[in-house]
Amino acid sequence: MKELSPAPQLSQVSKPSQAPTQVTAPDAPADCGLWLEAAAGFVSTPAIEQVVRRARAYLDAGYPVHFSGPAGIGKTTLAFHVAALRQRPVVLIHGDESLKSSDLVGGESGYRRSRVVDNYVHSVLKTEENVQTLWADNRLTLACKQGYTLLYDEFTRSRAEANNALLSVLEERLLTMPRQGTGEEACIGVHPEFRAIVTSNPEEYAGVHRTQDALADRLVTIRLDHFDRETEVVVTQAKSGLSREDCEVVVDIVRGMRKLGIARHGPSVRAAIMIARMAAQEKVGVGVGDPLFDEVCQDVLSNVSGKVFRDGEPDVSHRVAEVIAAHSIKATLARPRREQGTRA
Ligand SMILES: Nc1ncnc2c1ncn2[C@@H]1O[C@H](COP(=O)(O)OP(=O)(O)O)[C@@H](O)[C@H]1O
Ligand SMILES: [Mg+2]
Repeated sequence: MKELSPAPQLSQVSKPSQAPTQVTAPDAPADCGLWLEAAAGFVSTPAIEQVVRRARAYLDAGYPVHFSGPAGIGKTTLAFHVAALRQRPVVLIHGDESLKSSDLVGGESGYRRSRVVDNYVHSVLKTEENVQTLWADNRLTLACKQGYTLLYDEFTRSRAEANNALLSVLEERLLTMPRQGTGEEACIGVHPEFRAIVTSNPEEYAGVHRTQDALADRLVTIRLDHFDRETEVVVTQAKSGLSREDCEVVVDIVRGMRKLGIARHGPSVRAAIMIARMAAQEKVGVGVGDPLFDEVCQDVLSNVSGKVFRDGEPDVSHRVAEVIAAHSIKATLARPRREQGTRA
């Protein structure tokens, strides 16, 4: 199973009063429960705040929350943020084709063999052997028992069978797991503080398993799309350190490309961050005819757009050039007015 590492914008912190940095149940795999705290780098705008508020309300009411939307719009970042706000340890799982039910629930981890040799009476040798199966809880079990928040990123990349254990956890708040050594099943009650936050990209077509209807039915799905321009500008600025004015040009180019609809759902704010970071690092002139800026946009946007063609669209780079040119002219015209304190 792949373990998801904490998003870079969230720090793993210790709660010195009662909780250690990493909380692990005695019989659980190490590094399972992490205390997260909302990072200073998380950008909140009215659009994001609305989503966060709704997600927290559903979680407070006991419902599992599902952020669903295209790649790169900020689902994982939001999920981490909302999880951190719960102020409970978080257990992370990253959806994966190879994930098995035992990677969620746990499984037999070996045997303990003990042997008693009794030769107290010299003429009698008595031996007794005892073999015991050892069980190790895995992440879902840990979260259910300890009342942690389960953050299951891209859960539809896992096979439906692997996710089956989640059904009764979410509906009946019961976790079904094999009874040790008997081959039978046992149910354990889920801790009242247990919550689940999951993400998925319904548009992803490679390596994705259709959400089982039963599972989808138990989740409150918050459908997300690319955020508004203001949110994208603020996120790009926060992640790149480029000036607001330059970020506006970058975001407008990215949104311009998106509007063309060459790629099914992109490019996302992630592309804007890439371009802006490169511009900041290389001190590139944004939207002023600097050839390096055009090349970086070409590299990032042709690649993103080239992933999915519509009707075999052959000339992505021409389209990128057109969009850059259009927005560079706009930016140039707007700049003198901005300098006089007038917003474009
Ligand atoms: N609210 C936000 N605050 C700060 N950065 C964000 C925010 N939303 C998105 N990002 C940044 O945008 C990029 C894509 O976000 P991510 O959560 O990985 O998207 P997704 O999970 O939808 O693919 C990341 O670099 C992330 O840091
Ligand atoms: Mg993600």
